[in-house]
Amino acid sequence: MRRNIPTIAPFLILSILGLTAGLWAGLLRLGWVLPALRSNLAFSHGSLMISGFLGTLITLERVAALRRAWMLAAPALTGLGWVLGLAFPGQVLGPALITLGSLGAVAILLIIVRRETQIFTITMAAGALCWLAGNLLWLGGTALNRVVWWWAAYLVLTIAGERLELSRVRQPKPLHYRLFTAAALVFLAGVLVTTARPQTGIFIIGAGLLALAAWLIRFDIARFNLRHPNPLTRYIALCLFSGYLWLGVSGILNLTVGVQAAGPLYDAVLHTLFVGFVLSMIFGHAPIILPALTGIQVSYHRIFMLPLALLHISLALRVAADLSGWHSGRMWGGLINETALILFLILLARQVLLSQKGATHPTAPISGRNHPG
Ligand code: HEM
Repeated sequence: MRRNIPTIAPFLILSILGLTAGLWAGLLRLGWVLPALRSNLAFSHGSLMISGFLGTLITLERVAALRRAWMLAAPALTGLGWVLGLAFPGQVLGPALITLGSLGAVAILLIIVRRETQIFTITMAAGALCWLAGNLLWLGGTALNRVVWWWAAYLVLTIAGERLELSRVRQPKPLHYRLFTAAALVFLAGVLVTTARPQTGIFIIGAGLLALAAWLIRFDIARFNLRHPNPLTRYIALCLFSGYLWLGVSGILNLTVGVQAAGPLYDAVLHTLFVGFVLSMIFGHAPIILPALTGIQVSYHRIFMLPLALLHISLALRVAADLSGWHSGRMWGGLINETALILFLILLARQVLLSQKGATHPTAPISGRNHPG
């Protein structure tokens, strides 16, 4: 399994560099006085986070599972795309490569659906299609506040599909599948409508997000694992459950604040979803995905609770500041969001090194995707 490492390392590095550039851009967008580095850096925050970082990483995970060399073209294109996008501001080359990479991701997902035609694979494929559609709209010059919901659908449907897949251990009833499909379809309908009728679309998106959050809270295994005796399982459950709550908050905000194009309310609506939901999922899944991707085992340590708590507290501060117009609270909340993520990554790297050395710590080993989380 470790032979994966030399193959995937360049793509993993591109993804992490994309995250670094995206975080720098996020601080610029918040108003922190930092060197702008590139004229288009601040403006590129959304595409760096969605495509440069997460799109590259998620596609890489699929390639590592399917092990077909040609598939590496997809993360290579998205990785190269964000670099060239920053290197040549205003040129179409970078966005075009990212869009081609997302087309590759759709092809990979279609192969997965053909192998296993299930609601969860179809949901993930729908997510990849939304990413491609969003990128095409972006390439065509559509306003970012409309593109953003297609990008959000990529992440929401990918994660929801993965959770449905993992929920199979609880043997969901046909009714549960129908409720899931209905919630996902409402959300997807909202994304479609938002391109032509933003006000109506955002309202439907809010209802869809709320319905998906309710489904995940009620039927995902996370709720049952919150009191699990295994500390790792409990930690993952906490990450997932808290992420679902933020997803619900994003749904409620969408139902109440209407269409936003920039500013504090836009920030709150988007980052309850992207930071509260998506980053919580990353905190919960990373210790499982890393071994699946690289073959390197990671051990759990209770210190992982620290960045998780920091993430939620700082996001609560950021959203409260957004809603009350408290500008410096918003700036600090965003900065601490980033600190929590960086701290998490440092602790993850530390645990990898400790696991490599076989150090004896009060830890629980993690054994790939079969983990009950
Ligand atoms: C971790 C700390 C983060 C900070 C400090 C941050 C900061 C910001 C800011 C200030 C904005 C503009 C809001 C406004 O108009 O006032 C923004 C927009 C956006 N953010 Fe983030 N963000 C963060 C995380 C994320 C993550 C994790 C994602 C995706 C997974 C993301 C995706 C986006 C997108 C797609 C937009 C809208 C694109 C645009 O209008 O340019 N952000 N972010």
